[in-house]
Amino acid sequence: MAQLNTKATLSDISLRPFKESDLEDYMILMSDDKVSQFCRWNTMCKEEAFNELIYAICTHPWYRAICVKDMPIGYILVKQGEGNDRCRGEIGYVLGSAYWGQGIITHAVKMVISSIFSELQGLERLEALIDVENLRSQRVVDKIGFIREGVLRKYWIHKGRTRDMVIYSLLNSDSTVHG
Ligand SMILES: CC(C)(COP(=O)(O)OP(=O)(O)OC[C@H]1O[C@@H](n2cnc3c(N)ncnc32)[C@H](O)[C@@H]1OP(=O)(O)O)[C@@H](O)C(=O)NCCC(=O)NCCS
Repeated sequence: MAQLNTKATLSDISLRPFKESDLEDYMILMSDDKVSQFCRWNTMCKEEAFNELIYAICTHPWYRAICVKDMPIGYILVKQGEGNDRCRGEIGYVLGSAYWGQGIITHAVKMVISSIFSELQGLERLEALIDVENLRSQRVVDKIGFIREGVLRKYWIHKGRTRDMVIYSLLNSDSTVHG
């Protein structure tokens, strides 16, 4: 589907599970080099995107399409730990570059935190791990009220480079969640 008007109104933003029929919109996202720069994945061809959508995303416990008027323009996910790690979960998000700079992700993350602690049983802490160079994403969680806990030095190898990551957290008991 062609994305002609990329100016969105925040009241038109909604979150919902992905469907197989979202493939074309999902492809726009997954073939965007600006988007993939800080992501674990590399830009994908249509077949790879189809497999990811069907076998990884549609079966994921908490993965939502960020939609404008029901058209996916990004995604947001929470991966909760298991067993003794179930008190914490990691949030991740991505938005098509044509939509950057309108506050859409900030709005979407706020939507998630308003309900995620009651949706995911046992969740007490939401973490965000963000590349030290990804200032735009750091600004998003800063604005929302996540606490910057520090820098995890040489934390992982990303696209051939060993990267330092900033770790942020938000607790169920933090006032931001209830405000
Ligand atoms: C991270 C991402 C979701 C942010 O989307 P966005 O639409 O720009 O987010 P918002 O508009 O809600 O907020 C961005 C904020 O960063 C600020 N910003 C933009 N560029 C910046 C920079 N170079 N340095 C610091 N802040 C910057 C904006 O001004 C805005 O803050 P403000 O509202 O105080 O003005 C988007 O860039 C993206 O999808 N990137 C690729 C995937 C990714 O990095 N995901 C996160 C992995 S942890």
